[in-house]
Amino acid sequence: MRHCKLDIEALIQQTEHPKPYDRGKDSMWTDPYISEKLLAIHLDPSVEAASRSPKAIEATLDYIQKLVPRGASILDLGCGPGLYTHQLAKRGYEVTGVDFSSVSLDYARQRRDEEGLCITYLKQDYRSLKLDQTYDLIMMIYCDFGALVPEEQHHLASLIKQHLKEGGLFLFDSITEVGIKQMHFNASYSFSKGEGFYSPEPYLCLDRNFHFPDQCAVLEQHFIIFEDGETKLYRFWNHYFSNDQIKALGFSRISRQAGLLYGHGPYNNEEVVFYAVQP
Ligand SMILES: C[S@@+](CC[C@H](N)C(=O)[O-])C[C@H]1O[C@@H](n2cnc3c(N)ncnc32)[C@H](O)[C@@H]1O
Repeated sequence: MRHCKLDIEALIQQTEHPKPYDRGKDSMWTDPYISEKLLAIHLDPSVEAASRSPKAIEATLDYIQKLVPRGASILDLGCGPGLYTHQLAKRGYEVTGVDFSSVSLDYARQRRDEEGLCITYLKQDYRSLKLDQTYDLIMMIYCDFGALVPEEQHHLASLIKQHLKEGGLFLFDSITEVGIKQMHFNASYSFSKGEGFYSPEPYLCLDRNFHFPDQCAVLEQHFIIFEDGETKLYRFWNHYFSNDQIKALGFSRISRQAGLLYGHGPYNNEEVVFYAVQP
């Protein structure tokens, strides 16, 4: 029998009382093993995690089509494997996708080439977005803008404004305070005997969600413990917004649309709000 030494006191201190905006130790999106697992989840139409169902994507594309005419230029920040960019190109838009996951971008490029579509894919961290073009619409879908901490939101908002054409729109979706009622603010656990989502090695996973009403924020925390005592800590913050908060980001013209989605959970339910905003 193998023995490992876990410092339980230290583990509790790391995970029990996170403060706004404590970060995790580890990043999921660019981890080579996890990003392969994520790609499979993005592409599984029955799983509404990381990407939404084909029906929800279709509803979002129809909404975009009401916002900007065919032929308009669209920049998708955090495009993942291109579930939106691909369809937008087919609908006649001039599309660019930005992501920092090589695995997702490789898949998106391969699919683009197989279907002979014209889409530009660029590997960049959008928190330091730098492109030599401006766009009619910049989009960020799956509540990803709210996943940034406030400082990053302000910085990205100013970069987005620099990359919008005169009269251009920034489209982002967000969780709402009502919508997070479907979230369980408690602790749960799961485990893997091997080849699980987080690692090929066996692990125990302790999940816990927190609500920070003063920050209009939620935190999803995943703490992974391996047999040898190694740990990983993933933290995902997200926010709901008031119109005043959006104005404070430098967007004055705000159009708000709910009821586009019919999935489950705070990132997919009918409460998810789509904001189309202009500087
Ligand atoms: C929740 S997924 C959403 C993907 C896509 N928007 C969709 O709805 O199908 C988030 C995506 O954003 C990407 N991402 C996260 N942070 C990023 C960053 N700082 N810069 C570039 N891409 C990022 C991830 O790699 C991932 O593909």
